[in-house]
Order: sequence, then C-alpha cells, then structure tokens
Amino acid sequence: MRILVTGGAGYIGSHTVKLLLARGHEVTVYDNLSAGHRAAVPKETLVVGDLKDIDHLDHLLLVNRIEAVIHFAASASVGESTTNPSKYYQNNLLNSLNLLDRVRRLGIGRFVFSSTCATYGVPATVPIAETEPQKPINPYGNTKLAFERMLADYAAAYPIGFAALRYFNAAGAAADGTLGEVHDPETHLIPLVIQAALGKRPHVEIFGTDYPTPDGTCIRDYIHVEDLAEAHLLALEAIRPGKGLAYNVGLGAGASVREVIRAVEEVSGKIVLVKEGPRRAGDPPVLVAASDAIRRELGWAPKYPTLKSIVETAWRWHRTHPNGYAKP
Ligand code: UFG
Repeated sequence: MRILVTGGAGYIGSHTVKLLLARGHEVTVYDNLSAGHRAAVPKETLVVGDLKDIDHLDHLLLVNRIEAVIHFAASASVGESTTNPSKYYQNNLLNSLNLLDRVRRLGIGRFVFSSTCATYGVPATVPIAETEPQKPINPYGNTKLAFERMLADYAAAYPIGFAALRYFNAAGAAADGTLGEVHDPETHLIPLVIQAALGKRPHVEIFGTDYPTPDGTCIRDYIHVEDLAEAHLLALEAIRPGKGLAYNVGLGAGASVREVIRAVEEVSGKIVLVKEGPRRAGDPPVLVAASDAIRRELGWAPKYPTLKSIVETAWRWHRTHPNGYAKP
C-alpha cells in the first residue's frame, strides 16, 4: 500500500515506519520535526512539513497517490495539556480535521488514528474494555476523543474507514537497537528511571504515593513500541470503507511506578534513588487494558509479554545512545 505517515519521525511513528517498510509498503513520512527526529526514518521517505500547510499536504497526497493515512502527529503530554490546552486543540484537533478533510475529498479510504487510553479518564471498570464510557479528565484526552468522534461521523457519511488505536503506555526500543525513545524534555517514567540509573539524573521523583493502589503509586499498562507498530499494520488491513474500528492496545497487565523502578534496577544492576513527591495533575490511578478484542479480531499477539522484556530493550537503547539520535 502507498501510505502517508504523519508524525512518522516520532517515537511510535518511526517504529511503525520501519515495520511498514520491512513488509514492503511504500511510505511517505510527513513530519515537522518539532518532536520527531530526522535520523529516525530513512531520508528518502521523509518530507518535512506541517499539517497546517494544507496545500503541501494536498500535493503530497496526490503526487504519491496515497491509499492510506496513519496519523501520529500530535502533542502528547498530559501534564502540558493542562497548562497549554490551546496547543493541544490546535495540533490535535484542528490540524487533524484539516488532514481528514483532504483525505475525504481525495477519496482515500483508510485512516489509522493514534488514540489513547487517556480518553477513558478514570475508568469505572479495570481492565478497561472498549465499551467503557470515554470521559477524559485532561485536555489531551479531550482532543483525542473529539477526533475519534469526528472519525465516526465521517465514516457514517463518507466512504472512509478508520481504526482508532487506544494505546496504553508505549515503552521500549527496537530490538535491533536502531530506534528508541527520545523526547526533549523527557517526561515519561521508564526513560527517566533509566537516566537516573545511568547517573544522568540524581533521582526519580514519584508523582504521588497516596493512590488507592497496593503500593500507593499509579499503575499503568506498559506496551512495547514494536507491538504497537504491529497493531497499526493489522488495523490497516482490517479497515473497511464506511466502518470504524476501535481497539485498546496494551498487555492487560499493570505495573506501579515502584514496580517500574524495581524492573529498571533489576535489568541495569544499578540502584535508583527515589524522591517521593505530590501527585501530578491529570493522572488517573489505574489504567490497564482489556485487549481481548484486538487479539481475537485482528490476531494481534505481543512479542514482549512482560515489563522486564520491555525495559531490557529500553535499557539497551539508552545505554548505547546517551545523546539520543545525536552523534556522541
Ligand atoms: N511518573 C512519575 N514520575 C515521573 C514521571 C512519571 O511518578 O517522573 C508517573 C506518572 O505519574 C504516571 C506514570 O509514572 O503515573 C507514567 O507516567 P508517564 O508520564 O510515563 O505516562 P502517562 O501515563 O502520563 O502518559 C502516557 C502517554 C500519554 C497517554 C497517557 C494515558 O504518554 O500519551 O499515558 O494516561 F495519554
């Protein structure tokens, strides 16, 4: 298939591009490099551009005769979304709507969307099934849910099919060591704990120790980025015109913040110093996926079934790439 991948130079995007190319797809990456990395994708695939530039986008979709779009480009920090919602509504909603309208007008029939478990807010039932009511508790989740609704309305009215993949916590790095997680600033737990283990940070702060969980810290469902990439390929093939699919993508197993720190200590053989701090705004206590639907309907089967196996790949990446994609 000829596929446009927005945000393809970012963390999950670049791992998905790698898999698409390995399976023989023709890929055009569209990324403004605000958070993505030039070195994370083959240079012949990359077009540097912004979703705001509708003419550029239109041209690309046409000349490359795009048949499907995988839409990663977005702002994705829960904390930042609570202090700068404008950025989230602009990037995640307006830009996405522009893209979707071009896709619709050109009659492109397949659209895969990066959604999130943050659309569920504080779930009443855990593990979370796709039928759980979606009630986000932060602007990031609001923007992602709003776009899911747009997609559903478009699929009902136009011959476009979509899949919304509700990721839980993406983690880990490519098995061959070529790609990994690089954010600036880094806000995600696993890279921060690894940086502390490597001596690049004095300690890790735990955001809240009074949650209603066995050890008082938040529980998340960490899922390997290559397993997420595979979910995109499966979803792409399953999409049918006029139909919408929505799947949770997680392991179905939760790990607390303290358990993540222990896993990094075990894998690295280092001691990580911990500081206990207050809760971070917008954090639900427990987010764990029921991922039976994608396993059953699309045959998705994660290759990294444990937190330890995920952390091992992340540790290898950070140890061998202390400056991310920049040369040492
Ligand atoms: N945490 C700490 N200390 C830190 C960083 C994180 O204790 O220094 C905790 C957080 O409070 C949270 C857990 O570690 O409980 C995981 O935090 P991350 O920032 O790594 O991930 P989030 O769960 O906040 O965010 C991820 C994705 C989002 C997605 C969200 C759904 O990055 O895109 O899951 O809640 F929307």
